[in-house]
Amino acid sequence: MSEINLSVTVSGLNLRTPLILASGCCGYGEEMERIEGWQWEDVGAVVLKGVTLNPRIGNPPHRVAETPAGMMNSIGLQNIGVKELVLKVSERLWKLPTNLVANVNGETVDEYVQVCEILMEAEAIKAAELNISCPNIRKGGLEFGLQPETASEVVRAVRSVWQKPLWVKLSPEPHNIADISQACVEAGADALCLCNTFPAMSLDLSEIPPRSKLGTLFGGLSGPAIKPIVIRKVFLVAQRLKEIGSSVPIIGVGGIWSGKDVLEYLAVGANAVQIGTVLFSDPIAPTRIINELKNLMRKFAQRNNDERWLDISNFVGCLEIENKIVAWT
Ligand SMILES: Cc1cc2nc3c(=O)[nH]c(=O)nc-3n(C[C@H](O)[C@H](O)[C@H](O)COP(=O)(O)O)c2cc1C
Repeated sequence: MSEINLSVTVSGLNLRTPLILASGCCGYGEEMERIEGWQWEDVGAVVLKGVTLNPRIGNPPHRVAETPAGMMNSIGLQNIGVKELVLKVSERLWKLPTNLVANVNGETVDEYVQVCEILMEAEAIKAAELNISCPNIRKGGLEFGLQPETASEVVRAVRSVWQKPLWVKLSPEPHNIADISQACVEAGADALCLCNTFPAMSLDLSEIPPRSKLGTLFGGLSGPAIKPIVIRKVFLVAQRLKEIGSSVPIIGVGGIWSGKDVLEYLAVGANAVQIGTVLFSDPIAPTRIINELKNLMRKFAQRNNDERWLDISNFVGCLEIENKIVAWT
């Protein structure tokens, strides 16, 4: 039987595996090397902690809380600011044996643009991922990602200054996520990441009256609880991209814990995936997930006597609908 092929290409970037470390869940990447058993070879890319124009101290504690089947966070985009990040990349991060992706945030379109202009100085950054779940202060704090117009405005503005691959990370909130996706693609996105954490609320009932478990009233929910919701969103967006004849890749993000979870995302149309929350409970999850993925691929190839299943790209969009294999890519 032939070798397993796990490599994928996303927006022109070659990834060793379809597994990408999600922003905010692996610091600046270098922290992962302190973990016993850590192996970069199982990782396709790392998305660095979200960056803004100026450093931010973030939200008051508590900033994380456990919930059944997930976690809540309200970090408040604590970060070192883009200038410090560029320095860190040129001094140390460039040595990491993986693709570095910057996660870009802003409160105005101009802030996103300025962050990206400064990031262009960091040669080792291979792509920018725009987090459009940020509050737009010109629109009373309404997130950029909630409407096709504001989403496309920020993507178009950044596209004019950013010459490398541009990923756009969507908000899970809008009901018309396919419209938002189409707007982002038409404005110049090279990949869509679905999606960010879900706005949520969780209370501590050890005292009465109860309080929010977090230092803020609301937080973002992540982990296995959100996976089935995001799977559907990926399905809807993949269908829309197919309808408009777009080959822009989708990166699925939400609740991935196992090799099976990865295949589920690929089957509905994702080309690669990101993992976040799992890293807090199993820091060497990439190696476990890649082993599970390989075992599943071997099993499917043997069971069906079909070597196609040894190539990860053949799983993309392979979902069977009404007894027909629908291939979307
Ligand atoms: C503690 C924490 C911090 C995060 N920080 C960021 C961030 O800075 N930028 C961003 O776009 N997403 C951020 N996220 C969202 C994750 O990148 C990811 O989209 C989300 O957690 C869903 O994936 P998961 O269920 O695998 O964790 C953060 C998530 C967590 C749990």
